[in-house]
Amino acid sequence: MNKKITVLAGDGIGREVTQWGVKTLELVGELFNHQFTFQDALIGHAAIEATGNPLPDASISACKASDAILLGAVGMPMYDNDPSLKIRPEQGLLKLRKSLGLYTNIRPIIIFKELQGASSLKSEVLDDVDILFYRELTGGIYFGAPRHRTDDGSKAIDTMVYTKMEVERIARKAFEAAMTRRKILHSVDKANVLESSRLWREVIQEMSTEYPEVRVHHMFIDNAAMQLILNPRQFDVVVTGNMFGDILTDEASQIAGSLGMLPSASVGDEVGLYEPIHGSAPDIMGQNKANPLATILSIALMLDSEFGLKEESKVIIDAVDLSLKLGYRTGDIADETTPADKILGTKEMGDQILSSMRAICTPKYA
Ligand code: IPM
Ligand code: MG
Repeated sequence: MNKKITVLAGDGIGREVTQWGVKTLELVGELFNHQFTFQDALIGHAAIEATGNPLPDASISACKASDAILLGAVGMPMYDNDPSLKIRPEQGLLKLRKSLGLYTNIRPIIIFKELQGASSLKSEVLDDVDILFYRELTGGIYFGAPRHRTDDGSKAIDTMVYTKMEVERIARKAFEAAMTRRKILHSVDKANVLESSRLWREVIQEMSTEYPEVRVHHMFIDNAAMQLILNPRQFDVVVTGNMFGDILTDEASQIAGSLGMLPSASVGDEVGLYEPIHGSAPDIMGQNKANPLATILSIALMLDSEFGLKEESKVIIDAVDLSLKLGYRTGDIADETTPADKILGTKEMGDQILSSMRAICTPKYA
């Protein structure tokens, strides 16, 4: 297989982690005889610094001309407390999602057994948790119009909009995913208050007749946030709107031990984008502290869902599993029982995964 990958490293720890995504893919290429080629493109604060634009047109065309996209993270703290900065790194990511039509954001909450102790939740609550989030990514309050501030600055407006078509296409993906799993679908909304949520619920109800085997539960967002930590095992596939999904998946990351462990896929009808769900973590940038595993696991997602390379994808997941079983941890997933010599930096963890991949692929009696 011959595939072209655009790498948008972005800001903060973005470069440190995407570098390990690239190395992982290069090794997959070597072990399985595929060819991956890479091109870098600008996004976020890095793009603003270089061009004044958080997503230059050149980046969009690079992405459109590639077979998959690997993204690091965007965002810098200087923008967060200065409302006078009108051009922001996050606008680059939102524009990218919209321009590529990436309306489905898939966020699997997978727990590696060894990390159950790293979660702030009790270990028995976490046994066998396996949740697949489907977050709508190009609509809702993130994109609705009108959105503005009045001239005197005293009033600000954002608008939550959903069309039937937008709900249907993400719901279809979620129903289809549920059919391949435990056939349970939770649809999360705020239909007791919001009109857009009432439409959301109506569409899900209508579609559920097409999937009689799927047990559908409608849950209000506030209750869902509570149920997620009370009894996460009850969830299989969860489908929800853009902002509710943003919030719930950050919450759910704590089930998996750390935000540093979770990969994600953003897909639409064309090229897909793969990225860790964590942010740019500028407080630890350049210190070799970032956990590269979410990015490495995003590569596993890319190989599986974009290229149909299931065996290659599994080698990566098994290598992460093996490295954790051998006791290796980055700082964010270490606990008081982790010996100091097993706490690794970004580079050492990355190297560890590569050698585990080699070990898994080398037949024992060759
Ligand atoms: C995410 C992030 C983004 C979002 C930000 C960086 C715009 O939090 O991917 O979850 O809110 O969608
Ligand atoms: Mg988020």
